[in-house]
Amino acid sequence: MSLRSKDLLGIQGMTADEINLILDTALTFKDVSERDIKKVPALRGKTVINLFYEASTRTRTSFELAGKRLSADVINISTSTSSVVKGETLLDTAQNIEAMKCHMIIVRHSCSGAPEYLSKRLKSSVINAGDGFHEHPTQALLDMFTIREKLGSLKGCTIAIVGDIAHSRVARSNIHGLTTMGARVRVCGPPTMIPQGIEHLGVEVHYDMDKAVEGVDVVMMLRLQLERQTAGLLPGVREYARFYGLDQTRLNRAAKHAIVMHPGPMNRGVEISSEVADNTSVILDQVTNGVAIRMAVMFLLSGGSKAEA
Ligand code: CP
Repeated sequence: MSLRSKDLLGIQGMTADEINLILDTALTFKDVSERDIKKVPALRGKTVINLFYEASTRTRTSFELAGKRLSADVINISTSTSSVVKGETLLDTAQNIEAMKCHMIIVRHSCSGAPEYLSKRLKSSVINAGDGFHEHPTQALLDMFTIREKLGSLKGCTIAIVGDIAHSRVARSNIHGLTTMGARVRVCGPPTMIPQGIEHLGVEVHYDMDKAVEGVDVVMMLRLQLERQTAGLLPGVREYARFYGLDQTRLNRAAKHAIVMHPGPMNRGVEISSEVADNTSVILDQVTNGVAIRMAVMFLLSGGSKAEA
């Protein structure tokens, strides 16, 4: 069993078998990060480029660590100090990088579709590290891995995703992944932040957060992008926190065993209280699992199989 594509562009269209393959392979790699010597030779001789056109703490560091733990040579390109500032196009930049014989390019870009555009024009594997409002596939994979690790299975779980669903690539990737894996998904947020017709993706829509979290196994909070206030999509941050913020009282409506997730970076006191973030959430477990997931994705895209991991 292997992945069908040379690239990882999104979760949409992936089969449950492919998702399970990545999650199972990541389980093997998670052990590598627990060892004294956190390195295996799986990608020795391969070159991986991190090409980030947007800010990132978790994803960029996680891909870099994942590549290094697999023994790849990893180069980070910060577009603010590259020839992008002189006007070089995305494709020219990527083709020049490929001319230096790299094997894999990891791209974060504010334009939805930028990784797909490159994937059609490059021989290297392209991994989407977040593109516009479209997808953030490795985030959804690490989220699914964490749910499976904490609750045993994705099938039959009920997950409430709360926040700005319309502008969230994390929500979109998770909706595709979780529904494919047999989970029930509720989305919740102010009406201005819920896209029309989203129920066609197989999710339940809620505008009242107290009802949305009732009895759920997982509460997944999204970052409020504060610039949405100036765009007129929410009346005020304080009001948003009152209606759509997660504190302990609201969390008590979820199942007793419920876990709380957030992709980060979080706005403390807005979408999540410090009490919940620091005492109850699995946010740092998500970050830990992100390295294993990215090791698995890079390994499988470079032709590795689960048995070799
Ligand atoms: N979750 C996530 O994508 O975080 P960063 O923006 O820090 O990479």
